Amino acid sequence: MKRTEIESIVSQMTLEEKAGLCSGRDGWTTKPLERLNIPSIRTSDGPHGLRLEEKDEDGFATAKMATCFPAACATAASFNPALLRELGSALGTQCQANHVHVLLGPGVNIKRSPLCGRNFEYFSEDPLLAGRLGSAFVQGLQEQGVGASLKHFFANNQEYRRMNSTSEMDERTMREVYLSAFERVVKEAQPWTIMASYNKIDGTFSTENKRYLTDVLRREWGFEGSVVSDWGATRDRAAAVAAGTDLTMPSATKTDAEIVQAVREGRLQEAELDAVCVRLLELVFRGVEAQKDNVTVDYEAAHELAKRIEADSIVLLKNESSLLPLKKNAKIAFIGTFAKAPRYQGGGSSHVNSYRVPGALEYAEQYANIAFAEGYAENQLEPDMQRIAEAVETAKNASAAVIFAGLPEKMESEGYDRAHMKMPESHNALIRAVCEAQPNTVVVLHNGAPVETPWADGAAAILETYLGGEAVGEAVADVLFGETEPGGRLPESFPLRLEDNPSYLSYGGEDGTVYYAERMFVGYRYYESKGVPVRWPFGYGLSYADFSITDLRLDKEEITDDNELAVQCRVENTGSRRGKAVVQLYVAPPQREGLRPVRELRGFEKVELAPGESRDVTFTLTQRDFAYWRISEHKWAVQDGAYEIQIGTSCHDIVLRRTLSMRPSQNPPLTMESLIKEFLQYPTGLQCWKKHSDAVVETLAKMGLVPRPMLEEVKKLIADPAAIPEGMGMILKQPVKLLCTFIGDLSQTQLQAMLDTINQNERN
Ligand code: BGC
Repeated sequence: MKRTEIESIVSQMTLEEKAGLCSGRDGWTTKPLERLNIPSIRTSDGPHGLRLEEKDEDGFATAKMATCFPAACATAASFNPALLRELGSALGTQCQANHVHVLLGPGVNIKRSPLCGRNFEYFSEDPLLAGRLGSAFVQGLQEQGVGASLKHFFANNQEYRRMNSTSEMDERTMREVYLSAFERVVKEAQPWTIMASYNKIDGTFSTENKRYLTDVLRREWGFEGSVVSDWGATRDRAAAVAAGTDLTMPSATKTDAEIVQAVREGRLQEAELDAVCVRLLELVFRGVEAQKDNVTVDYEAAHELAKRIEADSIVLLKNESSLLPLKKNAKIAFIGTFAKAPRYQGGGSSHVNSYRVPGALEYAEQYANIAFAEGYAENQLEPDMQRIAEAVETAKNASAAVIFAGLPEKMESEGYDRAHMKMPESHNALIRAVCEAQPNTVVVLHNGAPVETPWADGAAAILETYLGGEAVGEAVADVLFGETEPGGRLPESFPLRLEDNPSYLSYGGEDGTVYYAERMFVGYRYYESKGVPVRWPFGYGLSYADFSITDLRLDKEEITDDNELAVQCRVENTGSRRGKAVVQLYVAPPQREGLRPVRELRGFEKVELAPGESRDVTFTLTQRDFAYWRISEHKWAVQDGAYEIQIGTSCHDIVLRRTLSMRPSQNPPLTMESLIKEFLQYPTGLQCWKKHSDAVVETLAKMGLVPRPMLEEVKKLIADPAAIPEGMGMILKQPVKLLCTFIGDLSQTQLQAMLDTINQNERN
């Protein structure tokens, strides 16, 4: 429907009807308005499966059966946007088949700490990875005519006190880390809706935060869709409307009158309410017009897709003596109840009533002669010595053992954080005992976030499956026996211990305030900058194939920040099996004033190659890839100097480097606090110095800083700032304003006039 038609409908609505439109009809749908032929649309959770709520005969909520795809923690490991697009599209089909117009996802919040109870629903500690995967997911979903709800906007990085804590961070941290993934998805994929989070930011609830919902999201980034509150996140209805929250969910009909009253009292302009209604009707009509009838779902095909996505996301963390893939037809011990009933999804609003969940045990029988031992009982935390002894016996009598372990479901859910990063002792003790008895032991991990792995040195091979969706059992069995490749790389760092995590001392907050004290040094940005060893770094993962990456080429050796840079390298499969490499590009900025992480991911590309095959990979970098957020100017800015373009197989394993010289097209403006050496870069500054450098030396001599006999010599030495010897360079590192002290004839007004001339005419 055209905007003018929508505006005409809004002009016919009463104030009460407009206010009514701003909250849901019930848990999931919007209010229809028969008088003006306004239909209702349906939302549903998300993000990795459709959780369509239904009522049973007693009126209790259940969820309709659907495909449970791998959760975001797993799909992030695929480093494969094309796959996320397929996932979004498949979810779109299931929504269409059920007349769902908006799916509540994806979640692109940054993983600040391994403890966040909802990490399994989020992608990464890195905003580029989260943003690119989030965009692809949204594009795939919306191509099917179903809207996304990008969540949870923003600074919602813990579950503890998620409904009322305030997240406090500086502008740079916010822009570089916590807003960045949202920004990318909004600009690249225009989600139909964005979900305002429960928490406060700088003391103001997200739903009432005009600075972010209107100034940043809509005005700066050009967001065209509607803002929906997280379920129950709106406190003050009128303030929420004024800030830019269009729809309060779920039903809040009782408080619709607050909006009416605020308009009557002049606290809220009716024009603001009209703008909200226009946006909401755009959403409603868009949803209804895109609705398809008679869409059916092939759940078997969707299950196969879930399996393919998971295989591309499983991370091979260790593979001593090429134990994996296991030999087919051998006698293999499968140990752990997760082999029968996999742990494959997290708790809370994303919990799907899955189509079917086969275990690895039943599926792998086609590949080998499998013996099974439970190892631990479901949800058992303390070691069960009896079961462990049985497992050891089973392992000894086989040529290799595979232990399925990780975190029980009750340890990871929406609504609360983990208390620590450890696996239950029932699993740790089992792994230790089996590894001791059987050197050919593989550990398969099922968990939604990093765990401590004190037994890692003793296991011959380790696979991380994350929460791999309903087909994880089949996907992992295929990978174990070499039917498919483990295609994943870690989308987050695995610290050795929780205490190493940069947010360890401030995570959770105090008295409801959470200080993001580690600033932008989140995940690998901290570990790499500080040289803190981790168990496995961001981006890491092995393959059954071998790759070599060579021939790094840059199309320029010197650039300004308004140029693009093309980067190329060549990847070759030097192994004997087909496989996938994930080529990662990091930019290492100059390490000068203003701390910057030693390197940041600025590009990645997944390449599938047959043995002997090779391919060129190309990246294009722009200003933003070199920039940091300069708080003093409230904008992205680039420092001059030498940058290194690094190609790695993880954030820690850099295999190729090339240096590039950057000359920003515009330096920051000079102020009285700028350094003298910055002032001297410009003709006006240099001219001033040439005229007055003798006076500077005389003042310094009077202060006893230059010995009298050396007066003339020093005058000559410092007349040309470029030739000043290292030992005397201190003067250049003082603030410009001191020139008025050093030079009797120079007034503050004259100096300021020179700074203005430089800022206006000489800075480019
Ligand atoms: C969650 C959202 C979810 C909504 C509806 C909230 O508690 O934070 O992610 O979409 O409930 O279930």
